[in-house]
Amino acid sequence: MKFKALVLDQSGDSVTAEVREVDERLLGEGELTIKVHYSTINYKDGMAITGTGKIVRSYPMIPGVDLAGEVVNSDFEEFSVGDLVVVTGFRMGELYPGGLSQFARVPARWAIKLPESISTRRAMEIGTAGLTSMLSILALEEHQVVPGSSVLVTGAAGGVGSTAVSLLSKLGYHVVASTGRRSEEPYLRELGASEIIDRSELSTPTQRPLLSERWHGAIDAVGGDTLSNILLQTRYGGCVASVGLAGGANFSTTVYPFLVRAVTLVGIDSVMTPLARRELAWSRLARDLDLSLLDKMVSYVSLSEVIDVARRIMKGEVRGRVVVDMDQES
Ligand SMILES: NC(=O)c1ccc[n+]([C@@H]2O[C@H](COP(=O)([O-])OP(=O)(O)OC[C@H]3O[C@@H](n4cnc5c(N)ncnc54)[C@H](OP(=O)(O)O)[C@@H]3O)[C@@H](O)[C@H]2O)c1
Repeated sequence: MKFKALVLDQSGDSVTAEVREVDERLLGEGELTIKVHYSTINYKDGMAITGTGKIVRSYPMIPGVDLAGEVVNSDFEEFSVGDLVVVTGFRMGELYPGGLSQFARVPARWAIKLPESISTRRAMEIGTAGLTSMLSILALEEHQVVPGSSVLVTGAAGGVGSTAVSLLSKLGYHVVASTGRRSEEPYLRELGASEIIDRSELSTPTQRPLLSERWHGAIDAVGGDTLSNILLQTRYGGCVASVGLAGGANFSTTVYPFLVRAVTLVGIDSVMTPLARRELAWSRLARDLDLSLLDKMVSYVSLSEVIDVARRIMKGEVRGRVVVDMDQES
């Protein structure tokens, strides 16, 4: 079997990326062979494709942390040929060949059969970003951050940010969106943000032990000094979900937000989340995501356009979600 895939190779210290025809030897191991309908471009894919950080562990590698498609061969009795599935995380595109390919092979335990109301296209419009947003919302709910209260979303115009803003607003939260792109204010308001703040409000380090209370919860895709400042401004009993590092991996804090305001900091990991938690998140996405809002945040590209988008996502220039249509010609 020959098919097209985006392939990363290492050349000295740099990483090269090209779309080329490959065969099954580049696929992973597992009981399911999947004809990939759609994949996406996430921040981590941007890092892998541009060779930023040590995301990919061996070369050649097909990148792509998520995919949705149709089972074309199954050696596992719970899956049949024709089943529509979504696979996200499990270190696809890092340790194991990923979704930016017309075919993929994965262990059956990684795959989730799609709820009937979600097509493969919708599944990738939501993708890792949507799943991560929903996992963050589940964590906030479990820490009593309930609809009606205010939640800050940082990196709001990005993939995780956009899906988080739209989910939270549909659920009835007061959404404060932080963005570095003021030009995206109308877009964020359309998704349901009630307040827009400039990312610079949160990015300057402070020596103060606490700041005025502003939000009950936060979903933070930025990290670094932004996360430090978010903790200082979280209300008594609130909860902050740490999701990403678009602004930096290191942050510092005192213990005051935890001791004086009983704030909880929770880590969100979509990569190794247990299957039952994933199924819960996907069922909640099927119920809680306003599909008309999803339409506003998605753009589509072909496999040959992925490298360019990967460069742009690393510069923070991509809005919302970018879906890769495997059947779209360049
Ligand atoms: N924990 C997990 O399981 C998980 C899953 C998915 C993603 N992530 C992480 O979450 C983050 C967002 O992922 P994504 O796919 O949504 O990426 P994305 O679409 O590129 O969104 C990131 C957003 O962060 C903001 N940003 C970019 N550079 C920044 C900087 N230097 N300082 C402050 N803000 C900056 C931008 O939003 P504005 O222009 O609106 O400011 C950008 O759109 C990444 O760090 C990613 O690795 C984690």
